[in-house]
Amino acid sequence: MPHTVLRRLRTAAAAALLGATGLLPGIGAAGPALAAPVHAAAARVANPFAGATGYLNPDFAAEVKAQASADGGTLGGLESQVAANPTAVWMDHIGAIAGDATHLSLQAHLDHALAQQQGTTPVVFQVVIYDLPGRDCAAIASNGELPSTAAGLTAYETQYIDPIAAVLANPKYAGLRVAAIIEPDSLPNAVTNQSKPTCATATPYYESGIVYALDKLHAIPNVYDYLDIGHAGWLGWSTNMVPAGREYAKIAQATTAGFASVDGFVSDTANTTPLTEPFLPDPDLTVGGQPLKSANFYQDNPAFDEYHYDTAMYATLVSDGFPDSIGMLVDTSRNGWGGPARPTALDPTPTTADAYVAANRVDRKPFRGDWCNINGAGIGARPQSQPYGAGSPIIAFLWVKPPGESDGDYPDAAHPHGDPHCDPNGTQTDGNGNTYPTDSIPGVDIPAGQWFPAQFRQLVQNAYPAFGTSGGNTGPTAPTGLTVTATTSSTTSLSWTASTDPTGVSGYSVYRNGTKVATVTGTTYTDSGLSPATAYQYTVTAQDAAGNVSAASAAVTATTTAPGGGNDNGCSATYTVADDWGSGFTANVTVANTGTAATKSWTVSWTWGGNQGITNSWNASTTQTGTAVTAANQAYNGALAPNTATGFGFQATYSGGNTAPSLTCTAS
Ligand code: BGC
Repeated sequence: MPHTVLRRLRTAAAAALLGATGLLPGIGAAGPALAAPVHAAAARVANPFAGATGYLNPDFAAEVKAQASADGGTLGGLESQVAANPTAVWMDHIGAIAGDATHLSLQAHLDHALAQQQGTTPVVFQVVIYDLPGRDCAAIASNGELPSTAAGLTAYETQYIDPIAAVLANPKYAGLRVAAIIEPDSLPNAVTNQSKPTCATATPYYESGIVYALDKLHAIPNVYDYLDIGHAGWLGWSTNMVPAGREYAKIAQATTAGFASVDGFVSDTANTTPLTEPFLPDPDLTVGGQPLKSANFYQDNPAFDEYHYDTAMYATLVSDGFPDSIGMLVDTSRNGWGGPARPTALDPTPTTADAYVAANRVDRKPFRGDWCNINGAGIGARPQSQPYGAGSPIIAFLWVKPPGESDGDYPDAAHPHGDPHCDPNGTQTDGNGNTYPTDSIPGVDIPAGQWFPAQFRQLVQNAYPAFGTSGGNTGPTAPTGLTVTATTSSTTSLSWTASTDPTGVSGYSVYRNGTKVATVTGTTYTDSGLSPATAYQYTVTAQDAAGNVSAASAAVTATTTAPGGGNDNGCSATYTVADDWGSGFTANVTVANTGTAATKSWTVSWTWGGNQGITNSWNASTTQTGTAVTAANQAYNGALAPNTATGFGFQATYSGGNTAPSLTCTAS
C-alpha cells in the first residue's frame, strides 16, 4: 500500500466545507445468517451509500473486542466503540474467497450482510479487490501472490475475479448493495512509478486486469465499482493529476460498457492524508514572500488535503470524459490526526512558509509520502453518506482500511522478511532525492493485514473526532512534556509533566513499543534491559482511582547507544532545543560524568534525521559531515569530576522537521 511523492503544480481547487449530514451508522451485533430473509433485487441508485447502512464485519469486530477487553478501563471502552463502524472486507489473495479458520469466506460475509439487513434499509457491503499480478510494485510490504506475467494475469482472471464475480452474482444477494474498491495503488503506480522496473513490467497487467475486473463486476446489477486514486500527497500535483485523468479514462474506455463501468473513485485508501487542513485553507497564501504550497512539506503540491484533492480530481475526471454522476469516496479510517499534537488554533506568527506550515498543519508526518504504520495518526471521520450534502461530488466517507491492521513488517537481524519503508529507522526519499524518516511505529514483526495492537491503541487515542466517553469524570488529562534520554546501551530515562484529574491521579502506565512495561506513581521512569543501538518508542497514560485512563501522551523515541557508548563509558548527553524559529534553532547539550572516575575528555555524536546544519557552536568543537555530527570538549571543559556536568551549545539551520536526535556520549 505504498507510493512515492513526486512533482509539482496545479491551480488551486477550492470550495468551503459544508456541514455533515446523512449519517451511515452501523447496526447491531452481527449474527450468522441462518434464516436470512429474501430480498428483492435492489434498483440501481446514484449513491449506494445514501439511505443505507454499512456492513459490520464480524472478523473485524472480534479483533477490536479482543483488544478492548484486554486493555480495559476507559481506553478499552473507547476502543470497543470502533467495532460499531462498517469496514471493507479485503479479498487480498485467492484463498480469501474461501476463507479460513479465522476469516469468513466471501459467501459467509454476504450471508451475514443479508442477516444485518433490517426492514427496507439496504446494507452496503464493501469489498476490496486487491490481487493484481505484480501487486504493490513500488514496495515490498504488500507484494501479492501472482507474478507479473501472462500466466499471472490468467490466474487473476480465472482463479480470482471469476470466482468473486460468481459469488456476488448469486441472486440471493441481489438485494444488497455491493461497493467494490478496485485495486488500491495500482493505477497511481502506473502514473508515477514507471521509472521502477517492477512497476513498468506490472503496468500492462494492472491495466488488463482492471479492465477485466470492471467488465465482470459491472455486469452484476447491484455492484458499484470505484477505482482507487491514491491520495492528495501522491497525485495532487497537476503534473500527476493530468496524466492520471487520462489513464483512468483509457481504462474505462477499454471496458465493454465504457465510462459507465466506473461508478466513481476512492481516495486515501489505507493512507493518512487529512480530510481537511483547517488552518491551511489556501495553498497560495504568501508568508515571508513564499506561497504556502512552496513549503518543503508540500513541495509545490497545492492539494493539501483530501477535500481539495477529490474536488480537483473530480473536475479532471469529468473533463476526461467521465459522467458528472461519478461519486468520490474517501477512506477516513486513519486520517484523523487528533490527540495532543494537533494544533487547535491558527498560529499566525511564523514568518516563513516552512515555519507557518509546520506550526499549523494537522498532518504531523515528517513527510507526506510516509505510509507504513504511521506514528501519531488517529481514526478519522466516521463512515457517513453525503458528508457535504447531496450536491457534493464527495458522496461518502468509508473505512476501507480496517484501523488496527498493519501496513507491513520490516526486516531485522532475527527476521529477513519485510519492507524497509516500515522500519522506524528507515528512510523515505522524495522526488528530489531528499530523505526523511519513515515515521513508522517501531517494534513490530506484524505483516500487512495482521492485527497491530500498539497501532490500534494510537489510532483510538488520536481519533479525530475523538471517541466519546461516558460518565461524569472522563479521566485524567493526557501526560504532556514526555521526554526520553537514551542513557546507556541498555537503559533509557523518561520524565513527563503530572496530569490532572478531579479525583486525583493514581498513577501512570509506561508503554514501550505499545506494550505496557510499568505502572508508576511518580513522573519519572528508568527503562532497563534494552538492546544496544535500538529505537524504542514510548507513550505514557495516566489513571485515576476510579480506573479512568487518559489519552496517551505524544509518543517519543530514543535509540539506545552502541555497546560501550553513552553512559557505558561514563558520560551522558542530554539535548534541549532552546529556541526554534522554523528555519533555524539553537540547542544546548548537557554532558554529565555518570561514571566513578574523573574524565579527561568527552565526545558527543549524533545523526540528524533531517537537513539540519550547524552554523556555529560554543563550548565544544563541532564538525558535521553529511548528517553526522561530532562535538568534542574544549581544552577547558574536558575534565569532569564524577557526578558533575558541563554543557555546550550551537546554532543550526533546517527546513521541514526538526526532530531531536539521539546522542551518544563517550568519555576517557
Ligand atoms: C494488506 C492486505 C490487507 C489489507 C487490510 C493491506 O495493506 O496488503 O493484505 O488485507 O491491508 O488490512
